[in-house]
Amino acid sequence: MAKTVTLTVDGKSYELPLVEGTEGERAIDIANLRRDTGLITLDPGFANTGSCQSSITFMDGERGILRYRGIPVEQLAEHSTFVETSYLLINGELPERTQLNRFSVMLNDHSLVHEDMRSFFENFPRRAHPMGILSSMVSALRAFYPELPERTEEEEINITFARLLSKVRTMAAMSYKISLGHKVVYPRHDLSYCANFLNMMFDSPVRPYRIDEDLVRALNAFWILHADHEQNCSTAAVRLVGSAKVNLYAAISAGICALWGPLHGGANQSVVEMLQRIYDSGGDPTPFIARAKDREDPFRLMGFGHRVYKTYDPRARILEKMVNNVLKKLQRHDPLLDIAKRLEEVAMKDSYFIDHHLYPNLDFYSGILLRALGIPLNMFTVMFAIGRLPGWISQWKESLDDPNWKLHRPRQIYTGPKCRDYITMDKR
Ligand code: CMC
Repeated sequence: MAKTVTLTVDGKSYELPLVEGTEGERAIDIANLRRDTGLITLDPGFANTGSCQSSITFMDGERGILRYRGIPVEQLAEHSTFVETSYLLINGELPERTQLNRFSVMLNDHSLVHEDMRSFFENFPRRAHPMGILSSMVSALRAFYPELPERTEEEEINITFARLLSKVRTMAAMSYKISLGHKVVYPRHDLSYCANFLNMMFDSPVRPYRIDEDLVRALNAFWILHADHEQNCSTAAVRLVGSAKVNLYAAISAGICALWGPLHGGANQSVVEMLQRIYDSGGDPTPFIARAKDREDPFRLMGFGHRVYKTYDPRARILEKMVNNVLKKLQRHDPLLDIAKRLEEVAMKDSYFIDHHLYPNLDFYSGILLRALGIPLNMFTVMFAIGRLPGWISQWKESLDDPNWKLHRPRQIYTGPKCRDYITMDKR
């Protein structure tokens, strides 16, 4: 197979190298395009642009495949834990028992948050969105946990990873408790990562929280399914901001801001709000589907469609199954699940959704699962952020080790006015 492609411009031909990935996807390497031809490429939304070569996550949007470090996400969701999957993403291989134990101990050791940071939480308005609080607090972590000159670079990086993975989870629960005006619950060394989170969220002196292993399992799977998704908007933000060699806390804070948007991680909150609106209006999804199809109406079916998946998002299938299991275990019925299923059924028979390849995505069922776990609606995107942390961290780490890594600095095609003179105020 040809290892170059030929580009002809103004009668002159240029050979551009072809790059091939391990799963057969191919790209034209245009790194020297401007130098050799004077041209740049134009790709709004970067839908056709590869920003890096990566060995972390493989996804095939046509076949609905998602693998972390080669392992299908279905297998990880069934057998792994979030901590083990984080290790896999960051280090490239599944850990041996001693490695996993060491990693877990490190997460435990770094799970407390500096007491002085509590006053920050207390001073945010009670109605502040938790994603705004989280991005600010993660950025502030740098001030509380500055560089460690006595450590090697590798040790410092590993400590920073552990701090982020562990403290962000603690801060999320802390911020929830403070927003309620309740006593903060500290992490416990005898609980697993996910059990600890549920305990910090829901334990109270007057109503001790009983840890249910099935719910802990569901939370593990939920976070595993969110753990990485190659060069999505927030990961691209982490890589881009990180490319300026800013500290990791600042880069992750940028990722959290990007994730907040309703077209990205914020969709899990928007889906439940949409399902609730359908429920409140009598339960018939048809008018909402009609609005989503109307080009004059900005409304979109939240939890549907994806830039890469042109078939069912594999994560959505697993989440749907998990929602059913968790609700059964809790012996609870959620009318929003019925609405979601009805909506999916109607949309999947509609030619607009079929022709546009719009299928349920990760966020379609995830909110219903979070409701079942007792997570408040405005924290849904924070749950996504905690899950995505190992992905952001591993992608940042990969970029750090990449010998071809450069400051991210896209070009543009200028379409503004040609050069003109400044006109003084009295002559305008
Ligand atoms: N409802 C109705 N129409 C849609 C939808 C939708 N949810 N999504 C895409 N379309 C239509 C869109 O109107 C356009 O139609 P046409 O070609 O006739 O003008 C066509 O499909 C292509 O849409 P696009 O916006 O150009 O495609 P994109 O790849 O930029 O959009 C998306 C991807 C996820 C932003 C979009 O599908 C969307 O807005 N979905 C709803 C929000 C959502 O669920 N987001 C979560 C994404 S998955 C989790 C994550 O990655 O964070």
